Amino acid sequence: MIVRKTPAEVAKIAAAGEIVAECLRELRRHARAGVRTRDLDAIAERLIRARGGRPAFKGYHGYPASICASPNSLVVHGIPDDYELAYGDVLSIDVGVELDGWIADAALTVVVGQASPLARRLIDATRAALYDGIAQARPGNRLGDISHAVQRRVEEAGFSVIRSLVGHGVGRAMHEDPQIPNFGSPGAGPRLEEGMVLAIEPMVNAGGHEVELGADNWAVYSRDGSLAAHFEHTVAVTREGPLVLTPWDDQAPQWLAVTGRDAEAIHPARVSAQAQRE
Ligand code: MF3
Ligand code: CO
Repeated sequence: MIVRKTPAEVAKIAAAGEIVAECLRELRRHARAGVRTRDLDAIAERLIRARGGRPAFKGYHGYPASICASPNSLVVHGIPDDYELAYGDVLSIDVGVELDGWIADAALTVVVGQASPLARRLIDATRAALYDGIAQARPGNRLGDISHAVQRRVEEAGFSVIRSLVGHGVGRAMHEDPQIPNFGSPGAGPRLEEGMVLAIEPMVNAGGHEVELGADNWAVYSRDGSLAAHFEHTVAVTREGPLVLTPWDDQAPQWLAVTGRDAEAIHPARVSAQAQRE
């Protein structure tokens, strides 16, 4: 069952999302050569708690950290450890925050230092796939419209979506219905309705789509060892269109409605319409 949220509840998720976004921007700045992923985890936990939030991942099915930090062929769920970031690493960072009983979840991929041409193409395609998916998150569309848009962008670039990992509804719980595959058919699946809140998250391998689980039973690697990227936003389906609740992306497309600090600069009209309803 897909739980729809009221505008007031969406605003609560947006408040959690503001902390997620701030945290991701901060971690992106700290992702430099010589920094341990454990250090990033500590920075994140401190920031989240200073804002009155709780790291939503910590303790989730026994997960031991506040963030996921997944370098290179690690796709997702890298447990922060003593790994020292090196020049050229492609690092995916995933953050979830619970605030006042509501959860927001987002991720981005950065390069430590200068990106290789392949890393740049992979990151650009995965981020673009996220926004193609988000653009479909409007009332009357179907879930498959999101999935298909993501898959199409990724495959046109010559890369592969991971099939065994999906996006998800989010709200009171980190993983709610529906599951959101990053592949599918337009017009298929449940109809999207106002008040649905979706964590849309393309996970992409530069090589084949197969993945394998690490020895810690969390880490997910590309099976062929190819580079991977991951971008995620928590998005509300509203009458005015998709509303991004985790505005970490200061280069978000102009058409996008977002909440929070970046909002007015990006799309004044849509944001004030949202603010008036609340
Ligand atoms: N963003 C990830 C997800 O949606 C975060 C899960 S990490 C976990 O699945 F440790 F909390 F499971
Ligand atoms: Co997620």
